[in-house]
Amino acid sequence: MKTIAIVSRKGGAGKTTLTLHLAVAAQIKGKEVAIIDLDPQASAAGWGDSRTQETPVVVSAQAARLPKVLQTAKGAGADLAIIDTAPHSETAALAAIRGADLILIPCRPAILDLRAISDTIDLVNLAKKTATVVLNAVPPRGSLADEAIEAISSYGLDVAPLRLGHRAAFVHSLTVGQTAQEYESTGKAAEEIQQLYKWVCRQLKM
Ligand SMILES: Nc1ncnc2c1ncn2[C@@H]1O[C@H](COP(=O)(O)OP(=O)(O)OP(=O)(O)O)[C@@H](O)[C@H]1O
Ligand SMILES: [Mg+2]
Repeated sequence: MKTIAIVSRKGGAGKTTLTLHLAVAAQIKGKEVAIIDLDPQASAAGWGDSRTQETPVVVSAQAARLPKVLQTAKGAGADLAIIDTAPHSETAALAAIRGADLILIPCRPAILDLRAISDTIDLVNLAKKTATVVLNAVPPRGSLADEAIEAISSYGLDVAPLRLGHRAAFVHSLTVGQTAQEYESTGKAAEEIQQLYKWVCRQLKM
């Protein structure tokens, strides 16, 4: 089983959106997926409850229990575990980072988000790991994304070659217990997440 941690100490960066979308993208490709929600706000778990399908399984957990929960997911035959974290819990983010094969940091291409990224980098460094930034909610026009890539590179972080645009389908789909691929399978949001998932598979060699 491979494990992805989605972390960012900035609230609203897109952690839950990325978690749920990658999970369903993997499921569509035939993977058994477990979502582990370490956020006490339980947004991912709430989305799981609002779905008509039973999968992907969403487990709400506390950071201290993460190793055990990952072990259980593996024992149950999961191919992939994706951990959603809270912005303000250092303990949970660190636990997720330590348990992960791939660490993704969603980041909006906006100055406040870029400034806040150093807090997240500190945690990744503390665990002696490396992480990749995924630009999220990128506006359709303008040079913000390019400027963001330059700023992120100056922190020595990698930026994923695929990004997610600022798209209504990412929002509306979650509201009805789906993801963009299920809600509007031929839309741009669905295409973006499909491409990002392919890149994730290459990183994880799966
Ligand atoms: N690519 C996108 N396009 C449009 N809206 C987006 C996009 N990504 C996220 N959003 C919206 O931004 C808000 C925050 O996203 P999300 O809940 O995924 O962030 P988060 O990092 O999990 O937040 P928190 O830190 O509170 O857990 C949500 O309303 C979500 O629907
Ligand atoms: Mg969240």
